[in-house]
Amino acid sequence: MSKLVARELTLAYEDRTVVHGLDLDIPDGRVSVIVGPNACGKSTTLRALGRLLKPRGGSVLLDGTELARIPTRRIARSIGLLPQSPVAPEAITVADLVSRGRQPYQHWWQQWSDEDERAVTEAMARTDVTALADRPVDELSGGQRQRVWIAMALAQETELLLLDEPTTFLDISHQVEVLDLVRRLNHEQGRTVVIVLHDLNQAARYADHLVAMKAGRIVAEGAPAKVVTRELVREVFGLESVVIPDPVTGSPLVVPGAPYSPERTDGRAVHSR
Ligand SMILES: Nc1ncnc2c1ncn2[C@@H]1O[C@H](COP(=O)(O)OP(=O)(O)OP(=O)(O)O)[C@@H](O)[C@H]1O
Ligand SMILES: [Mg+2]
Repeated sequence: MSKLVARELTLAYEDRTVVHGLDLDIPDGRVSVIVGPNACGKSTTLRALGRLLKPRGGSVLLDGTELARIPTRRIARSIGLLPQSPVAPEAITVADLVSRGRQPYQHWWQQWSDEDERAVTEAMARTDVTALADRPVDELSGGQRQRVWIAMALAQETELLLLDEPTTFLDISHQVEVLDLVRRLNHEQGRTVVIVLHDLNQAARYADHLVAMKAGRIVAEGAPAKVVTRELVREVFGLESVVIPDPVTGSPLVVPGAPYSPERTDGRAVHSR
């Protein structure tokens, strides 16, 4: 059995159920990517996997034990979660925010250690935010801030890492950098990663295991080459597309159907006036 599993997981906000009886095994030591349209329940699911949200029904199990029965500190040492829109404490500096990733390791009898220092320095270097260390987080650009949050999650040094749209706000090279970093952590340190991504092509490139959700249910899961088909894109996103092999990686590349253009009816190109 996987370290982290969901069994018949039902999640709701007040009287509205948004995730329905989900069964999900997160493959150990692999990168899983969750995709699906807006509001289908990706973030809700991820938050429940990280115990930020209590199940309405069913359960999430870590090593076979229900999350609700595990002490918070132990969960925080096992599962790191980067939410979709994290909010930083006012006027906190980059270094201080990243250091908060070490909170699960602090005790009244043991204050900041060399080990904590090493983890923070390393996390900041890996996410390229070392030069920002003394800057207030609320004065950073969206992309810089996003990398600081990722640094905080990395500093937590958990076996499981859950990232909700970690590439939001990042320019294309930083997107690739973050996803490569996640892959490297997975490869070199055997960390289990679950990422929510909107970009299907990135999802197909980086996932070992792809989970496609729609309306609070899993529609398909497995290797990207099996899951990402034009039928799936039509079913999940209601979009016509062509799926071709990615010229660089060979993974499925989704090319959306023809965009609107005024010449479509007679098939001839209209050149600019
Ligand atoms: N705190 C909340 N209170 C009430 N309803 C919520 C809350 N958070 C999310 N929802 C609702 O639950 C549903 C699922 O939301 P969720 O954030 O899980 O979607 P998502 O798949 O992550 O979407 P996106 O791609 O836009 O991030 C949506 O209908 C949303 O409006
Ligand atoms: Mg979301």
